[in-house]
Amino acid sequence: MVAPLRVGIAGLGTVGAEVVRIIEQQSRTWSVRCGRGVRVVAVTARSRTKKRGIDLRGIDWARNPLAIASDPGVDCFVELMGGAGDPALSAIEAALKSGKSVVTANKALIARHGLRLAKIAEKHGGALNYEAAVGAAIPIVKTLREGLAGTDIDRVYGILNGTCNYILTRMEQEGLSFAECLKDAQRLGYAESNPSFDVDGHDTAQKLAILASLAFGTKVAQSAVYVEGISSIAPEDLRAAAELGYRVKLLGVAVRTKTGIEQRVHPTMVPRSSSIAQVMGVTNAVTIDGVGLSPITLVGPGAGGTATASAVLADIADVARGIHVKPFGRPVAKLRVTRKAPMERHEGGYYIRLMARDLTGTAATIATRLAERKISIESIVQRHPDGSSDTVRANGKSSPVPVILITYATSEDAVRGALQAVQRDKVITGRPQLIRIEKN
Ligand code: HSE
Repeated sequence: MVAPLRVGIAGLGTVGAEVVRIIEQQSRTWSVRCGRGVRVVAVTARSRTKKRGIDLRGIDWARNPLAIASDPGVDCFVELMGGAGDPALSAIEAALKSGKSVVTANKALIARHGLRLAKIAEKHGGALNYEAAVGAAIPIVKTLREGLAGTDIDRVYGILNGTCNYILTRMEQEGLSFAECLKDAQRLGYAESNPSFDVDGHDTAQKLAILASLAFGTKVAQSAVYVEGISSIAPEDLRAAAELGYRVKLLGVAVRTKTGIEQRVHPTMVPRSSSIAQVMGVTNAVTIDGVGLSPITLVGPGAGGTATASAVLADIADVARGIHVKPFGRPVAKLRVTRKAPMERHEGGYYIRLMARDLTGTAATIATRLAERKISIESIVQRHPDGSSDTVRANGKSSPVPVILITYATSEDAVRGALQAVQRDKVITGRPQLIRIEKN
């Protein structure tokens, strides 16, 4: 009979408390599922007296995370405090150095220090598991690292931030502004304490950097991710997208290109018929294009206590079973340095919304500037203030009117150059809106 796995948990917020509750509740089934029992033997958190609705009797209350990390009576250190630095970082380091296995839900820490920690884990023999760091209950880390270990991957992309997807969903369905929907997301507790982390795309960028490393066998490189958030998206963009057969999502996309691995986070037009376009509200989704395979899409809850606990428990189960995979699928020394594909070389279709002066020659000027850079227009629509739309025709009126263009595939460089020229020509007012189109 193998002795139970002794687990120590640092951090008893919503996720930590749920992990303790489920381990206790399922105490009988762990030994059946994993071949050995799992017991929580030590915990620590900022407040000892906070009501959590869990029974902590019989569990040692450690004075700090480091005390659990270095406790010889703990086999597996579970870090659920969050934060890219200390105390999480030094506690994880100490646990790995003492040969323990570590389970964490900390995306910021894995994105920033994952390689260093993986090296320590390799040297001392413990596991470093972080399934909950990306997409919570969606088993995307395991899918890329283990399920698709024998498949070459061309592209991985997804909706990795529930807050942004919630905001875009409400904006589209109710015609509300970005600011109104952000307020609601905060009221409902979806947004991070600093909403900029969600809505400016940084949360997605951290998750994408981890997925790119797993998909392409490269070193995690958050600094290689191009990031744009959703705050510039207006309800009229979502309306136009719907009319043109698209939906706007904040996507994280990592793709192999001729110039290297492109990693980018930005609002994206996706075909309305695609699997990813159907994902609404706080739900997350990831699509993987494997060479020779139809795309695989995983959809599920990407945040919340139970969803995150589900991934943490799966990681603990792996430790109990003795399943030990290199944190990034291969030894850190064998991970390649990411060759960052420059964003100016990105190729794809574009949605462009301009406020054009309604004067004879405006449409001709815009078309000329695009043609000069060999940008081919797939469609062009001028929307009159009364809501009707028609093919652009200069009608002599002087108030600006929205003009919406969809281009065929072109380069970022070309499209930005054309728009700068159009601005210099003074045939538009304000800044052009530019949304990249991602084909499925
Ligand atoms: N703020 C994140 C989200 C939570 O909205 O998806 C999980 O990382």
